[in-house]
Amino acid sequence: MRLLAGLAISTCVVVALWAAPAAAQNIDLGKSVYQTKVQCPLCHGWAGHGVHEDPRAPNGANLRETAMDAEALYVAVQCGLPGTSMPFFDRLAYTDDRCYGMTADAIGDMKPPPGQPVLIKREIDALVAYLMAKVVGRGEPSEEECVEFFGADNNRCTDFAAMGAGGAGGGDPAANH
Ligand code: HEC
Repeated sequence: MRLLAGLAISTCVVVALWAAPAAAQNIDLGKSVYQTKVQCPLCHGWAGHGVHEDPRAPNGANLRETAMDAEALYVAVQCGLPGTSMPFFDRLAYTDDRCYGMTADAIGDMKPPPGQPVLIKREIDALVAYLMAKVVGRGEPSEEECVEFFGADNNRCTDFAAMGAGGAGGGDPAANH
């Protein structure tokens, strides 16, 4: 018995040591999905503050002020938001009843547009972890967050204060290149 208890304790220690870097890695994956793989900022802004980066894209919701919890965020990304231009990212959304219990036939004209590219569960989980850690409930975007998001060698955050937090979200997309 004592041996078993010892084993259980050492397993706990190993799990605890492993959990922190694993969570950080998950958030990093979520950021890369947000920033690069899907480009949520085209509609939602780099900080998720609802200022689109692409003037041709619709202005997405302000994710910093969302009332959604992690579960609702997951569904919004997996299934999109019916009747809006918020796309769905699950390849099989609306092919069965996984999204709001509705197939494409049942949802009809309210079906949101398909997102590009599709995401798997692990990516959506990571995206939600990123949003919960870095975006939801964070108030106005700060210069520190800008530097963290774009990296210190990116000129995107120069004159951040002059542009104002909102200005740093939109701006001239050509300036990024
Ligand atoms: C084509 C533009 C577009 C893209 C790309 C896009 N969204 Fe959206 N999103 C929207 C719009 C528009 C809304 C607001 C819908 C409404 O309620 O009218 C929205 C709403 C949301 C909401 C709901 C927020 C709330 O409180 O109601 C979440 C969460 C969300 N988007 C997350 C994401 C994430 C994460 C990505 C990247 C995987 C993404 N969106 C990509 C346009 C977009």
